Amino acid sequence: MNSRQSFAKPPSPHPSAPKLLFPFLDLKAEYASMKEEIGTAVEKVLESQQFIMGPEVRQLEAEIAAFVGSRFALGCASGSDALLLALMALEVDSGDEVITPPFTFVATAGSISRLKARPVFVDIDRETYNLDPTLVEAAITSRTKAIMPVHLFGLAAEMEKINETARAHHLPVIEDAAQAIGARYHDRNVGNLGACGCFSFFPSKNLGGAGDGGMITTSDPELADRISVLRDHGSRKKYQYDLLGMNSRLDSLQAAILMVKFRHLEAMAQARRRNADRYRQLFRQAGLEKSIVLPVQPEGLHHVYNQFVIRTPQRDQLREHLRNCGIPTEIYYPFPLHLQPAFAGLGYRPGEFPESEEASQQVLALPVFPQMTEEQQKMVVDETADFFAERK
Ligand SMILES: Cc1ncc(COP(=O)(O)O)c(C=O)c1O
Repeated sequence: MNSRQSFAKPPSPHPSAPKLLFPFLDLKAEYASMKEEIGTAVEKVLESQQFIMGPEVRQLEAEIAAFVGSRFALGCASGSDALLLALMALEVDSGDEVITPPFTFVATAGSISRLKARPVFVDIDRETYNLDPTLVEAAITSRTKAIMPVHLFGLAAEMEKINETARAHHLPVIEDAAQAIGARYHDRNVGNLGACGCFSFFPSKNLGGAGDGGMITTSDPELADRISVLRDHGSRKKYQYDLLGMNSRLDSLQAAILMVKFRHLEAMAQARRRNADRYRQLFRQAGLEKSIVLPVQPEGLHHVYNQFVIRTPQRDQLREHLRNCGIPTEIYYPFPLHLQPAFAGLGYRPGEFPESEEASQQVLALPVFPQMTEEQQKMVVDETADFFAERK
């Protein structure tokens, strides 16, 4: 595969494709179920007129820290900024290297490049789509400053082995937990498995706000102090700047809305897990286990299914078929980061990360939103079965 081929457009759906039968993610239904609570919370902030670092931000930080099991949680403007602030607090700088997977959202590696440090890509595990822990050690050099695994799709990365390697080389681990709030690795929550955990409150996340927002969790008081200063222009005291920081705070309005939604987070995650189990059962009943690969749930890991991702070499054709039947799907991610023009300067070539490259061509995310009905899931499975039956 050359880089031109890698950017070939997937076939577009038929121009007269029918309207979607249901959305990929039903945020309107979620809002309707919390409308009054959210209205009251927003009203309270508007009445107070305390929009920046108001009491709601402190309260949400305390609630998330308690939930994750970390000593501190610090709100910021987005998940991307959470990663950037964590790296800045760890003094990652020009010329440093940070190990991370290429099969992820752009912000993971982008945060590293923004600091003029180098993302050093390490391929993913074929089954979990997360950083392959057996390949990390070989990527460590004298310039390595941190390891940044991603808990992709809501499943924790293989943290025990990653932490073991990190400890042996005295390296901090920054968890990109943007997609995985509430996921657990054995008895611990993500965000409490490394030096820092970085969360996103982008609306499509399991805990999504009414706009952008993010949070960093840590149990290290020095890191927490640096992050809290860095997110507020580097200032501890008004108009005195200890560090070169940025303006990246979580709005009080967002915090108030997130606190309402946080009360429903476990129930929503449970509904996603129920839907995932139901898909497994329905796909098995339809005899499709050989045609598609279902997401794995490794022993002891609590998956929260921000995405339910299946895999097939006929991904693009299946996607087109489903679209023509009115069924929405998404591709996370159609191109691995090492083949993106934005990272061309790193000098990676097609073929260097075969698992990430193949995953990009084969994965398909099916709707798994909490309010999805059994009937809607049956439509997805029946149409998938029809697609493969036509090809027999
Ligand atoms: C894996 C991953 N990392 C980082 C981010 C960045 O988060 P945000 O969109 O809040 O900046 C996202 C979300 O979009 C993500 O999915």
